[in-house]
Amino acid sequence: MDNAAFEMHEDGTHNTSSMGKMNTSSRMEKKRQWSLMSVFLVCLLACTVTTAVGVLILSLVYVYNSQPHSQVHLGLEARPLQTTVPIVQKAVDPKFQFLNHLPKSKVFEFPGGAIQWARYRNNVKDYLSVEEEAFGSSLNSQRSQMTLGTLRIKSSGLRAPHWHFNANEHGYLVQGTAWIGVVDDGGAVTTYNVTAGQVIFFPKNTLHWIKNVGNEDCFFLLFFSTHDELQTLDVDDVFFSVPEDIASRSLKPEGGINFIRTFQKQKEDQGVNLPPNLAELVINPSYVQSPDSLVWRYFYDLKGSKEYRFPGGVIQLAQYWKNASELSNHEKIFSEFLNQHQNALTLSTLRIYNNGLRQPHFHFNANEMGYVISGCAKVGIINTQGTIEFDVHIGDVVFFPTGTQHYIKSSCDEDLLFLLAFSTGDQLQTLDMDDYLQATADHILAQLFFKKQSEFKKIPKFKEDQAINLP
Ligand SMILES: *[C@@H]1O[C@H](CO)[C@@H](O)[C@H](O)[C@H]1NC(C)=O
Ligand SMILES: *[C@@H]1O[C@H](CO)[C@@H](O)[C@H](O)[C@H]1NC(C)=O
Repeated sequence: MDNAAFEMHEDGTHNTSSMGKMNTSSRMEKKRQWSLMSVFLVCLLACTVTTAVGVLILSLVYVYNSQPHSQVHLGLEARPLQTTVPIVQKAVDPKFQFLNHLPKSKVFEFPGGAIQWARYRNNVKDYLSVEEEAFGSSLNSQRSQMTLGTLRIKSSGLRAPHWHFNANEHGYLVQGTAWIGVVDDGGAVTTYNVTAGQVIFFPKNTLHWIKNVGNEDCFFLLFFSTHDELQTLDVDDVFFSVPEDIASRSLKPEGGINFIRTFQKQKEDQGVNLPPNLAELVINPSYVQSPDSLVWRYFYDLKGSKEYRFPGGVIQLAQYWKNASELSNHEKIFSEFLNQHQNALTLSTLRIYNNGLRQPHFHFNANEMGYVISGCAKVGIINTQGTIEFDVHIGDVVFFPTGTQHYIKSSCDEDLLFLLAFSTGDQLQTLDMDDYLQATADHILAQLFFKKQSEFKKIPKFKEDQAINLP
């Protein structure tokens, strides 16, 4: 009732009802009908005009928006090279979603060594081939948490101190000896001499360096827990990006800013560094090692860990164990530390003897990436589209998305040795083909396969786990 408009309307109603004569009231009715009609016509006109204007605006917007599209289209037609790209892409063998011939990939050469990658690229033009692109896109679209790099460091070479913003790093030293430093929160440093067969773990954003202290090349397989492009900063690049006065005030060196100005950025990227005059620069290096309680958080002796032996091969694991009763004290430290970090990876070696078969199996809780260190094999992947089978040789990289069943059959005279990474910091969960078929009731299998129930007694149970079997 506070609303003035409402009160006025009430007054108007009172006025009409107070009119006395019939004639007057019927004339009033006609007048009201006329005025209603005119209100209706005005409304109709307004509607028509509004609709017309609306259509006009929409059509203008449409024309405006469609112009760039048509230009892009014309551009594609004008350049035959670009139109052929999608056609070639369609012809890529589907196996390249799961296989990367790493030895064929671009070699990033540095003064002290080289790096190669099996990874996702933001810019499609950064792939060398459509096969490499198929693999990279598959890593990314499956949200794999996987990137692989190989790192070769020459004797006395140094992988510059650096850190990664967006990934944990897990590595395996295939060959050589390296003195590694890891710098954690507040500048706590852990150093250790890593030898072949051992595993390293650098949590996201911990600063680390790798110095080859042996006579032969170091060769590392590095896995990063990201399917995006890895974000990395090297300490020399950071140093030259910091304004001189800021560096001077932070470090307070003798000679102040003039000392800072004596630093000279090298022309070549020093990612893996090895100055020609190293002997003049470094006179008295010391390669100390930190106490065990620190060391074994970042390092794990995979080669010396428990061997899980099967008729056709051996598996070893650097992972978190729920039941740590069989672990050494060093291994317990690593297992716990791994599990404290998000998106950590599990590493494993898989050795398959000649003609041995890692039978079809899948993992509930992890994507898997593998690198062939030695030997060769036939690999199969069974996904919703059927089976894709291909051969792998030294240096090849495979990718098995979580849940896809896969098998590996060693096909050379020498043992096949795979280094595997799994995208979980929890204990790996796996199911083998013989185990799930044995676990399914015979009458369920009989009904499913149109086969007599008694026939399924022909599939034997073995005392020994047949995860890797030999005929
Ligand atoms: C680490 O390796 C280097 C090179 O072989 C050696 O000189 C050094 O003594 C080693 N450090 C320790 C603590 O064993
Ligand atoms: C842990 O493993 C040991 C040895 O394999 C076994 O004896 C023990 O029962 C296990 N503990 C638990 C809680 O499962």
